[in-house]
Amino acid sequence: MIATVRIGAATLYMGDAYVIRPALGFHDADVMDPPYLIRATGAGRYRARRPMMDRIMDEELHSGFDMAIVNPLLCGAAIVFAHNDQLAELLSLAQGQFHRHALCVWQKTNPQPIANKHYRPDVEFYVHAWNRGYHPAGAICDLFRVSRITSPRGSARFDHPTTKPDALMAKILANVAGDSVCDPFMGTGSTGVAAIRAGKRFTGIERNPDYFQTAVRRITDAVTKARAVDQLEQVA
Ligand SMILES: C[S@@+](CC[C@H](N)C(=O)[O-])C[C@H]1O[C@@H](n2cnc3c(N)ncnc32)[C@H](O)[C@@H]1O
Repeated sequence: MIATVRIGAATLYMGDAYVIRPALGFHDADVMDPPYLIRATGAGRYRARRPMMDRIMDEELHSGFDMAIVNPLLCGAAIVFAHNDQLAELLSLAQGQFHRHALCVWQKTNPQPIANKHYRPDVEFYVHAWNRGYHPAGAICDLFRVSRITSPRGSARFDHPTTKPDALMAKILANVAGDSVCDPFMGTGSTGVAAIRAGKRFTGIERNPDYFQTAVRRITDAVTKARAVDQLEQVA
């Protein structure tokens, strides 16, 4: 069964993205942070001190994603995070199936190693690919498209191992053209919060009931605050 929750301009589905996303039809942008393909084993005693990596493996958040979910017939633009091991495939998809694309970088100010004797991931990549009519909105276009932003830690993670920072998602959403945004791997709802704050309609999908509930709570809060701002503006 697929649970559906509507909150203002947001519609959230609890279930499998690969089943639900194709049925949702066209959105102006798909903004997604899918499971990364990473090797999280090794590193001995150091690794033992990082229980978050166990969670990533237990929840299959280290197995990558099927790029068939990035479908240019279902979105005007796609913003997709990916780890090194899937980046070449993602760039090839962007090159072959979209009009233009940009490789963008989130430079983390507080990187944590995944395992010893490997590069520390102090940058994460995302690709912004678009078709005609969905060129980046251009509100914030940096020369090197680098965002230097701290990764959430502790309680700010919303009890999720890979929550994206609000500041990063706000910057991404400011550059998204159009009105409707879908995130098929919603997690705790970071894309949805940024979409609502940017005045867009949001559709999110998440399979994990705990993360889904967190997303409902965060997006309800964002919708309530956005309504309060609207009312204040009407009074002024
Ligand atoms: C990298 S996390 C996204 C985190 C999110 N950006 C945030 O800030 O909270 C990927 C999410 O996709 C979810 N997920 C993985 N496979 C899925 C699937 N097939 N359908 C729906 N959700 C899925 C996981 O439960 C996880 O919460």
